[in-house]
Amino acid sequence: DKPLLEQCYNLLDFEAVAKKTMKKGAWGYYSSAADDEVTLRENHEAFHRIWFRPKILVDVKNVDFSTTMLGAKVDIPFYVTATALGKLGNPEGEVLLTKAAKKHNVVQMIPTLASCSFDEIVDAAEGDQVQWLQLYVNSDRKITQRIIEHAEKRGCKALFITVDAPQLGRREKDMRSKFEDQGTNVQSGQTTDNSQGAARAISSFIDPSLSWKDIPWFQSVTKMPIILKGVQRAEDVLKAIEVGVQGVVLSNHGGRQLDFARSGVEVLAETMSVLRELGLENKIEIFIDGGIRRATDIIKALCLGAKGVGIGRPFLYAMSAYGLEGVDRAMSLLKDEMEMNMRLIGCTSVDQLNPSLIDTRNLGSH
Ligand code: FNR
Repeated sequence: DKPLLEQCYNLLDFEAVAKKTMKKGAWGYYSSAADDEVTLRENHEAFHRIWFRPKILVDVKNVDFSTTMLGAKVDIPFYVTATALGKLGNPEGEVLLTKAAKKHNVVQMIPTLASCSFDEIVDAAEGDQVQWLQLYVNSDRKITQRIIEHAEKRGCKALFITVDAPQLGRREKDMRSKFEDQGTNVQSGQTTDNSQGAARAISSFIDPSLSWKDIPWFQSVTKMPIILKGVQRAEDVLKAIEVGVQGVVLSNHGGRQLDFARSGVEVLAETMSVLRELGLENKIEIFIDGGIRRATDIIKALCLGAKGVGIGRPFLYAMSAYGLEGVDRAMSLLKDEMEMNMRLIGCTSVDQLNPSLIDTRNLGSH
C-alpha cells in the first residue's frame, strides 16, 4: 500500500514513504543521527525561525534561478551532497543519483565511501556533467594522494575534504539495527566489524590527526579547488580564507557527528556578519547543508550569502522508495517550489537575493 509517486508533493513525503517501506537496517543507517538527534531536528527547524520580507509589484513574469557554484553552471542552487552506501537504498546506488543530477543539471558530490566504485560513478556521467569528490582522509596519505590524483585525472572539478569526522558519531538507531554488508567500495583495507553499526564499520581508516597543517599538502597535490566540509564557526571560516582554500561547507554532517552542533544556516548568519564587517565576503564560496527540504530553505540560505546548498537524505529516501523516478520528481518539486517562491518574494534571479529579504531576528547566534 505504497502511495503513488504522484502523491508525493514535497520532499518530506518521500521520507514518510521511505520509513514505511525501507529495510530496517538501511532506514537506520540513512535516517540516524548522533546521540539524541537534537542537531538533526534543529537543522530543519532553524529554517522556521527565518521569515521573509518580500517585495511587491515587481515584474516576475520571467524567473531564472540558475547560478554557478565553483564555476559550474547549474539549473538551481542545490547540489546532491555526498552520502555513503547508496546501494543500501537501491541496487543501482550512486549511479542512479548521477543520472538524476544530469537530468536536472545539478552537481553530484561523490562520496569516498560510495557503494559503487568511483570509476562507475564517473563513467555514468554524461557530456560536461560536473562531479565533485568528497574525501575522507586516510591515515595512509599515499592512499589519499592516489584517490585525489585519480579524481582529478577523471575530471572531478572540486575536492571537498570532510573535516567534521575525526571520529564517527554514535548513531544509536544505526547501531541497534543489524547492518548487512552491501559490498561497499571501502578503502580501509581492513575487515569490518559490524557490531557498532554501518557507520563505524566503514570508517576506521579516517585519520583523526588531520589538522590545519595538512592543508598545504593537499594544495600541493591537486589543482582542484579545495573546500572544507563541516566548518562550524566563523573563526574557522577566517582560517580557511587565510590558508587559501576556495570554499567551506557550513555543515554538521546532517546531525550525525556532534550532537548540539548548531545548524548550518545559523553558522552562516554568524559567518556572514563577521565576513561583511571585515570586507571578506567575496573571498570564499560558502555552502551550507543540513535540513534543507524546501525551496524556501534554499532561498533563505542564498539571501544570507550562501552560494548554494547541499541536500542529502531527501534524495536517498526518494531513491529508496521510488528509484530514479522518485529522485527525478523530488528535484522537479524543488524547481516548482523555487519558481513560485522566487516570484512571491519579488525576485527574478538569484543575484537579487539579499539579506533585506529576510527577517533573522528570531534566528539567534549573532
Ligand atoms: C552523510 N554525510 C556524509 N558526509 C560526508 O562528508 N561523507 C560521507 O560519507 C557522508 N555519508 C552520509 C551518509 C548518510 C546516510 C547521510 C544522511 C549523510 C553527510 C552529508 O554529506 C550531509 O552533510 C548531510 O546529509 C546534510 O544533511 P541532510 O540534507 O541529510 O539533512
